[in-house]
Amino acid sequence: TNLLVITPSGSRRRIEAAAGITIMENIRNAGVGELAALCGGCRSCATCHVYLEVERPDLLPPISDEENDLLDSSDHRRTNSRLSCQIVVKAEMGMMSAEIAPET
Ligand code: FES
Repeated sequence: TNLLVITPSGSRRRIEAAAGITIMENIRNAGVGELAALCGGCRSCATCHVYLEVERPDLLPPISDEENDLLDSSDHRRTNSRLSCQIVVKAEMGMMSAEIAPET
């Protein structure tokens, strides 16, 4: 699955995202250092916040209460904000782009 990663400074990089692991893990595996993901995906840091666009948004998992609370703690929340550690990539999701949100 093709994933376009956009850093807060605006640099763009296309990566081939593997299915079965999260968007956060894919971004980290590609060596993009701008995604801090400090808690390693245990839904407690919100430093994996991205603005996410996918071809098939209907295939995204719903936002849990914990994810919602963490996103609310950001001053930069947008309608397409997600925690990238909460989304396991599926091939059927199609083309994706994830813009790394600025830190709060
Ligand atoms: Fe910490 Fe996603 S990596 S909440």
